Amino acid sequence: MELTFGGPSKMNILLTGGTGYIGSHTAVVLAEQKHNVILYDNLSNSDENVVDKVQLITGKPITFIRGDIRDRDAVLSCLKTFEIDAVIHFAGLKAVGESTESPLKYFENNVSGSINLFSCMHKTGIKNLIFSSSAAVYGEPESSEIFETNTLCPLSPYGTTKLQIENILSDLSTSDPTWQIICLRYFNPVGAHTSGIIGESSPALPNNLMPFILNVASKNIDELVVHGNTYNTKDGTGIRDYIHIMDLSNGHVKALDHLKNKPQFDVFNLGTGRGYSVLELISHFELHNKVSIPFRVGPPRAGDVASCIASPAKAIKTLNWKPVRTLRDMCVDSWQYKYRQLSILKKNSSS
Ligand code: NAD
Ligand code: WQD
Repeated sequence: MELTFGGPSKMNILLTGGTGYIGSHTAVVLAEQKHNVILYDNLSNSDENVVDKVQLITGKPITFIRGDIRDRDAVLSCLKTFEIDAVIHFAGLKAVGESTESPLKYFENNVSGSINLFSCMHKTGIKNLIFSSSAAVYGEPESSEIFETNTLCPLSPYGTTKLQIENILSDLSTSDPTWQIICLRYFNPVGAHTSGIIGESSPALPNNLMPFILNVASKNIDELVVHGNTYNTKDGTGIRDYIHIMDLSNGHVKALDHLKNKPQFDVFNLGTGRGYSVLELISHFELHNKVSIPFRVGPPRAGDVASCIASPAKAIKTLNWKPVRTLRDMCVDSWQYKYRQLSILKKNSSS
């Protein structure tokens, strides 16, 4: 179908993995733009209460369907029932370490699940798609800034699933030019909605830096282990391109907007173009939140690269998108969300 943007007409947008971290924040932005948002998720790494929270923030009704992207009947039924105009495909498993231990689980969930979703979209004639890809498709960076044209050589089964899905989408678009597909390669999303109502709340403890810092700040963990300080970087610790979750969410709205230009198939980095070391992130967090983060230096983590920084130039130019939030915003908003969660838990346990 033809997409219309900027006018009074609402679109029906399906967010697979919509109750997850990035899906829920993107749902807020889309609902605020008056689109009908349908969240489809099997809740393997999220909680249904996110739906109420998104409704609370936006004041808009949000539809939630509990389902798996590998379930053909459920996906078809959802696409038809809600007359979906475009799909943003967030659903997937994302733990790099786990993917090395259980690669089949990752290929089965991420790749087979995506094939099922695309096949259902094809069958129902819904051919507008934004896909959550990752900087993990690049592997060892060959330049200080990573461009979309860099060599693609993932270092983990997780990264391989993302590259395989991108390749499937590229072939699909070649076979049928009526598809409009955009792959967004996220760098390191952190932060939370400024209300403090939603944030990253995965039931499993993720291995990522910010969730660890938050757990140390909340005294759930005694100290942070810094994975190596002998990298060839300014202070020896790993450098990453952290991007605020609301800037990342806005990137999806801009990508949806860009579908009207009929890109057929395109790929964009979503990062800020600025890197911070582990020690810099710790010190910013301490400074802006007035909490202390005890840490010790451990050995480097297997599979880590020294530095991973996006060139966001293509997204800035073509999607008319710009990340505007600072590292301070990322630290303050992350802690505000975590602190609010802790206060709610404390209140519930004492009543
Ligand atoms: P998340 O785990 O919070 O959200 C993913 C959601 O997908 C979860 O709610 C989970 O329950 C759901 N899901 C998983 N498998 C499913 C299935 N078979 N059927 C239906 N639902 C399923 O993760 P996130 O951080 O919001 O990431 C969203 C997407 O972005 C993922 O595809 C991830 O690989 C990708 N990504 C994330 C990051 C990051 O650092 N957070 C970086 C790059 C790319
Ligand atoms: C950041 C830096 C660590 C934890 C991962 C995925 C990537 C993407 C984003 C999904 C590194 C250091 C970490 C800790 C530490 N996700 N660190 N102590 O590895 O850059 O990227 O998430 O697509 O694909 O690989 O993120 O947050 O794990 O690490 O010192 O306890 O923090 O070594 O330098 P990463 P991260």
